[in-house]
Amino acid sequence: MKKVVDQFTVVSTIPYNSTNYCITLKSHSPLEKIEAGQFTNVEIPGNKEVFLRRPFSVFEVDYKSNTLSILVKILGKGSKTLTEIRPGEILSLIYPLGKGFTLPKNNEKIMAVGGGSGVAPVLHLARNSGLPVDNVQVILGARSSGDHIPVDHYNQWANCHYTTDDGSKGIHGVVTNHPLFNNLNEFDRIYACGPLPMMKAVAAQAKKANVTCEVSLENLMACGFGVCLCCIEPTTKGNLCVCTEGPVFNINDLKW
Ligand SMILES: Cc1cc2nc3c(=O)[nH]c(=O)nc-3n(C[C@H](O)[C@H](O)[C@H](O)COP(=O)(O)OP(=O)(O)OC[C@H]3O[C@@H](n4cnc5c(N)ncnc54)[C@H](O)[C@@H]3O)c2cc1C
Ligand code: FES
Repeated sequence: MKKVVDQFTVVSTIPYNSTNYCITLKSHSPLEKIEAGQFTNVEIPGNKEVFLRRPFSVFEVDYKSNTLSILVKILGKGSKTLTEIRPGEILSLIYPLGKGFTLPKNNEKIMAVGGGSGVAPVLHLARNSGLPVDNVQVILGARSSGDHIPVDHYNQWANCHYTTDDGSKGIHGVVTNHPLFNNLNEFDRIYACGPLPMMKAVAAQAKKANVTCEVSLENLMACGFGVCLCCIEPTTKGNLCVCTEGPVFNINDLKW
């Protein structure tokens, strides 16, 4: 798959809540094909303290308007600077990077679990799975109701369920407390992206139920295309670069 470095114009920067922003960007050339789970490495403009690009999953893609969106959770200087960018400004993106999720086959039933910034690739997958709505269950986990992003329109592609650590929206507790985890054998595939403990908990349950499971890792990255070796993950196939061999891995390949 061809990777490109492209200058995108910022179309909008929309705050979804106090820490999460949706940034929509327009390319002036036709977009490359982007798989759910692939990411883009974004140059951070106007902040001399941030030298390296920052990786973000591609959230939504519209090939007709040549736009893509990323969901940015403010963590440090790079992400904060990005959320302050205004319409009309230019951002340099390298994309599409990495390997995406394996798409389900016809009529399979899938569960996609997202937490924190991991909701972006999971929702991208749910929207583009090609499956009927009833075959797609999405569980989104957050600390509190205010940390969930507004994704009600995703109900046209998936059944969305929520969990919160404080019980303020959906099921009280972590994602694996959701009742859907009581019958994992109903699913052909499980996908997850989010904080490491969350993905490990989902992977452990999937393994127990013997259901195929893929997770998207968010190891620290610099180059994003296999040169700096800072994103190495020990796997059953040796030490692999998450940016080129992942970020999506089958859990059987991970040493968890
Ligand atoms: C493949 C991939 C996809 C990603 N997709 C998204 C996305 O869709 N939305 C989103 O908001 N974020 C995403 N991230 C995480 C995002 O890249 C980081 O939050 C961002 O680089 C932080 O940059 P910063 O300058 O704001 O923070 P920094 O100043 O670089 O870091 C602030 C703190 O956060 C920690 N940190 C930085 N990056 C990560 C990370 N990846 N995991 C855990 N801790 C980290 C640092 O160690 C430090 O303690 C993704 C990361 C990867 C590797
Ligand atoms: S980020 Fe440089 S090799 Fe993966």
